[in-house]
Amino acid sequence: MKMKRKLVFATNNPNKLKEARAILQDKVEVVSLADINCYDDIPETAQTLEGNAMIKAKYVFEHFHLDCFSDDTGLEIEALDGEPGVYSARYAGTDKDSEANMKKVLDKLKGISNRKAQFRTVIALIIDGQEYSFDGIIKGEITTEQSGTSGFGYDPIFRPSQSKYTFAEMPAEEKNQISHRALALQKLNDFIKTYNQFYL
Ligand code: IMP
Repeated sequence: MKMKRKLVFATNNPNKLKEARAILQDKVEVVSLADINCYDDIPETAQTLEGNAMIKAKYVFEHFHLDCFSDDTGLEIEALDGEPGVYSARYAGTDKDSEANMKKVLDKLKGISNRKAQFRTVIALIIDGQEYSFDGIIKGEITTEQSGTSGFGYDPIFRPSQSKYTFAEMPAEEKNQISHRALALQKLNDFIKTYNQFYL
Protein backbone atom coordinates (compact mmCIF):
# COMPACT_ATOMS: atom_id res chain seq x y z
CA MET A 1 0.00 0.00 0.00
CA LYS A 2 1.22 3.51 -0.83
CA MET A 3 2.03 5.80 2.12
CA LYS A 4 0.00 8.99 2.25
CA ARG A 5 2.22 12.02 1.87
CA LYS A 6 2.00 14.56 4.70
CA LEU A 7 1.32 18.15 3.65
CA VAL A 8 1.25 21.08 6.05
CA PHE A 9 -1.53 23.62 5.39
CA ALA A 10 -0.06 26.86 6.80
CA THR A 11 -3.17 27.78 8.77
CA ASN A 12 -4.93 27.03 12.04
CA ASN A 13 -8.34 28.08 10.72
CA PRO A 14 -10.59 25.06 11.42
CA ASN A 15 -12.98 25.82 8.54
CA LYS A 16 -10.16 26.01 6.00
CA LEU A 17 -8.64 22.78 7.34
CA LYS A 18 -11.97 20.98 7.09
CA GLU A 19 -12.51 22.20 3.53
CA ALA A 20 -8.98 21.22 2.46
CA ARG A 21 -9.20 17.79 4.08
CA ALA A 22 -12.53 17.10 2.38
CA ILE A 23 -11.04 17.84 -1.05
CA LEU A 24 -7.55 16.34 -0.59
CA GLN A 25 -8.34 13.43 1.71
CA ASP A 26 -7.57 10.53 -0.64
CA LYS A 27 -4.22 11.87 -1.71
CA VAL A 28 -2.48 13.42 1.28
CA GLU A 29 -2.69 13.82 5.03
CA VAL A 30 -3.31 17.53 5.68
CA VAL A 31 -1.82 18.80 8.95
CA SER A 32 -2.11 22.27 10.51
CA LEU A 33 0.51 24.67 11.88
CA ALA A 34 -0.47 23.64 15.42
CA ASP A 35 0.08 19.98 14.46
CA ILE A 36 3.74 20.78 13.75
CA ASN A 37 4.02 23.02 16.84
CA CYS A 38 4.30 26.19 14.82
CA TYR A 39 2.72 29.05 16.75
CA ASP A 40 4.62 31.85 15.02
CA ASP A 41 2.81 34.85 13.61
CA ILE A 42 4.03 34.59 10.02
CA PRO A 43 4.26 38.12 8.58
CA GLU A 44 2.27 38.74 5.38
CA THR A 45 4.27 41.64 3.98
CA ALA A 46 3.96 41.14 0.21
CA GLN A 47 1.93 43.42 -2.09
CA THR A 48 0.24 40.54 -3.92
CA LEU A 49 -1.79 37.45 -3.03
CA GLU A 50 0.83 35.31 -4.79
CA GLY A 51 3.60 36.90 -2.72
CA ASN A 52 1.84 36.47 0.63
CA ALA A 53 0.87 32.87 -0.08
CA MET A 54 4.49 32.04 -1.00
CA ILE A 55 5.90 33.81 2.11
CA LYS A 56 3.84 31.50 4.35
CA ALA A 57 4.73 28.32 2.45
CA LYS A 58 8.43 29.25 2.39
CA TYR A 59 8.39 30.00 6.12
CA VAL A 60 7.24 26.47 6.90
CA PHE A 61 9.59 24.90 4.38
CA GLU A 62 12.62 26.83 5.66
CA HIS A 63 11.91 26.41 9.39
CA PHE A 64 10.44 22.90 9.45
CA HIS A 65 11.70 21.30 6.20
CA LEU A 66 8.24 19.96 5.41
CA ASP A 67 6.13 19.96 2.25
CA CYS A 68 3.62 22.74 2.67
CA PHE A 69 0.91 24.83 1.05
CA SER A 70 -0.72 28.07 2.05
CA ASP A 71 -3.48 30.30 0.74
CA ASP A 72 -4.23 33.96 0.43
CA THR A 73 -7.52 35.45 -0.74
CA GLY A 74 -8.71 38.85 -1.84
CA LEU A 75 -11.91 40.49 -3.05
CA GLU A 76 -11.12 42.35 -6.28
CA ILE A 77 -13.62 45.04 -7.35
CA GLU A 78 -13.41 46.26 -10.94
CA ALA A 79 -14.59 49.85 -10.35
CA LEU A 80 -12.07 50.22 -7.50
CA ASP A 81 -9.11 49.09 -9.63
CA GLY A 82 -8.94 45.71 -7.89
CA GLU A 83 -9.32 47.00 -4.32
CA PRO A 84 -9.43 45.76 -1.60
CA GLY A 85 -7.40 42.86 -3.08
CA VAL A 86 -4.44 41.88 -0.94
CA TYR A 87 -5.68 44.30 1.76
CA SER A 88 -9.11 42.60 2.10
CA ALA A 89 -8.69 41.61 5.76
CA ARG A 90 -7.72 45.12 6.89
CA TYR A 91 -9.36 47.36 4.26
CA ALA A 92 -10.98 49.67 6.83
CA GLY A 93 -7.89 49.77 9.01
CA THR A 94 -8.38 47.26 11.77
CA ASP A 95 -7.59 43.64 10.99
CA LYS A 96 -10.64 41.50 10.22
CA ASP A 97 -13.37 44.04 11.07
CA SER A 98 -15.84 42.71 8.50
CA GLU A 99 -18.59 45.23 9.27
CA ALA A 100 -16.22 48.18 8.75
CA ASN A 101 -14.71 46.58 5.63
CA MET A 102 -18.14 46.04 4.03
CA LYS A 103 -19.23 49.57 4.91
CA LYS A 104 -16.12 50.98 3.25
CA VAL A 105 -16.81 48.99 0.07
CA LEU A 106 -20.49 50.00 -0.04
CA ASP A 107 -19.61 53.66 0.59
CA LYS A 108 -16.98 53.68 -2.16
CA LEU A 109 -19.40 52.10 -4.64
CA LYS A 110 -22.30 54.45 -3.83
CA GLY A 111 -23.73 55.74 -7.12
CA ILE A 112 -21.45 53.49 -9.21
CA SER A 113 -23.31 51.13 -11.53
CA ASN A 114 -20.38 48.80 -12.31
CA ARG A 115 -20.61 46.37 -9.38
CA LYS A 116 -18.42 43.63 -10.95
CA ALA A 117 -16.12 41.86 -8.51
CA GLN A 118 -14.35 38.58 -7.99
CA PHE A 119 -12.91 36.59 -5.13
CA ARG A 120 -9.48 35.21 -5.97
CA THR A 121 -7.59 32.64 -3.92
CA VAL A 122 -3.96 31.83 -4.58
CA ILE A 123 -2.48 28.64 -3.18
CA ALA A 124 1.31 28.36 -2.99
CA LEU A 125 2.76 24.86 -2.73
CA ILE A 126 6.31 23.81 -1.92
CA ILE A 127 6.83 20.11 -2.47
CA ASP A 128 10.24 18.40 -2.60
CA GLY A 129 11.70 21.92 -2.56
CA GLN A 130 9.92 23.01 -5.77
CA GLU A 131 7.46 25.92 -5.83
CA TYR A 132 4.06 25.86 -7.56
CA SER A 133 0.95 28.01 -7.39
CA PHE A 134 -2.73 27.60 -8.24
CA ASP A 135 -5.57 30.06 -8.30
CA GLY A 136 -9.33 29.91 -7.98
CA ILE A 137 -11.64 32.70 -9.12
CA ILE A 138 -15.35 33.25 -8.68
CA LYS A 139 -16.92 36.17 -10.48
CA GLY A 140 -19.95 38.06 -9.26
CA GLU A 141 -21.11 41.44 -8.08
CA ILE A 142 -21.28 43.63 -5.02
CA THR A 143 -24.84 44.14 -3.80
CA THR A 144 -26.11 47.54 -2.65
CA GLU A 145 -26.72 46.32 0.90
CA GLN A 146 -25.87 43.40 3.16
CA SER A 147 -27.96 40.26 2.82
CA GLY A 148 -27.71 37.03 4.81
CA THR A 149 -25.96 36.00 8.00
CA SER A 150 -23.89 32.89 7.26
CA GLY A 151 -20.24 32.79 6.20
CA PHE A 152 -17.73 35.49 7.05
CA GLY A 153 -15.84 38.48 5.66
CA TYR A 154 -17.53 40.06 2.63
CA ASP A 155 -20.05 37.21 2.16
CA PRO A 156 -23.16 39.39 2.86
CA ILE A 157 -22.33 41.78 -0.02
CA PHE A 158 -21.01 39.33 -2.67
CA ARG A 159 -23.40 37.60 -5.07
CA PRO A 160 -21.82 35.05 -7.45
CA SER A 161 -22.85 35.54 -11.10
CA GLN A 162 -24.68 32.22 -11.32
CA SER A 163 -26.77 32.83 -8.19
CA LYS A 164 -29.71 34.88 -6.95
CA TYR A 165 -28.24 34.79 -3.45
CA THR A 166 -25.24 36.30 -1.70
CA PHE A 167 -22.65 33.92 -0.22
CA ALA A 168 -24.09 34.78 3.21
CA GLU A 169 -27.57 33.62 2.13
CA MET A 170 -26.28 30.19 1.03
CA PRO A 171 -25.72 27.14 3.21
CA ALA A 172 -21.97 26.58 3.78
CA GLU A 173 -22.04 23.36 1.71
CA GLU A 174 -23.39 25.25 -1.30
CA LYS A 175 -20.81 28.04 -1.03
CA ASN A 176 -17.99 25.50 -0.55
CA GLN A 177 -18.90 23.78 -3.83
CA ILE A 178 -18.36 26.89 -5.92
CA SER A 179 -16.03 29.11 -3.90
CA HIS A 180 -12.70 30.56 -5.01
CA ARG A 181 -10.96 28.51 -2.30
CA ALA A 182 -12.64 25.27 -3.41
CA LEU A 183 -11.60 25.91 -7.03
CA ALA A 184 -7.97 26.52 -6.03
CA LEU A 185 -7.98 23.44 -3.77
CA GLN A 186 -9.37 21.34 -6.62
CA LYS A 187 -6.48 22.48 -8.84
CA LEU A 188 -4.06 21.55 -6.05
CA ASN A 189 -5.78 18.17 -5.76
CA ASP A 190 -5.46 17.51 -9.50
CA PHE A 191 -1.78 18.42 -9.34
CA ILE A 192 -1.09 16.15 -6.34
CA LYS A 193 -2.91 13.26 -8.03
CA THR A 194 -0.56 13.42 -11.02
CA TYR A 195 2.50 14.22 -8.89
CA ASN A 196 1.93 11.18 -6.67
CA GLN A 197 1.82 8.90 -9.71
CA PHE A 198 5.34 9.94 -10.64
CA TYR A 199 7.03 10.65 -7.32
CA LEU A 200 5.58 8.21 -4.79
P1 IMP B 1 -7.56 34.99 3.83
O1 IMP B 1 -6.38 35.17 2.94
O2 IMP B 1 -8.28 33.71 3.59
O3 IMP B 1 -7.24 35.22 5.28
O4 IMP B 1 -8.61 36.12 3.42
C1 IMP B 1 -8.33 37.50 3.56
C2 IMP B 1 -9.63 38.28 3.72
O5 IMP B 1 -10.42 38.14 2.55
C3 IMP B 1 -10.50 37.77 4.86
O6 IMP B 1 -10.17 38.38 6.10
C4 IMP B 1 -11.90 38.18 4.40
O7 IMP B 1 -12.14 39.55 4.68
C5 IMP B 1 -11.80 38.03 2.89
N1 IMP B 1 -12.28 36.69 2.47
C6 IMP B 1 -11.52 35.60 2.18
N2 IMP B 1 -12.30 34.58 1.82
C7 IMP B 1 -13.56 35.02 1.91
C8 IMP B 1 -14.84 34.39 1.67
O8 IMP B 1 -14.95 33.21 1.31
N3 IMP B 1 -15.91 35.17 1.85
C9 IMP B 1 -15.84 36.47 2.24
N4 IMP B 1 -14.71 37.09 2.49
C10 IMP B 1 -13.57 36.37 2.32
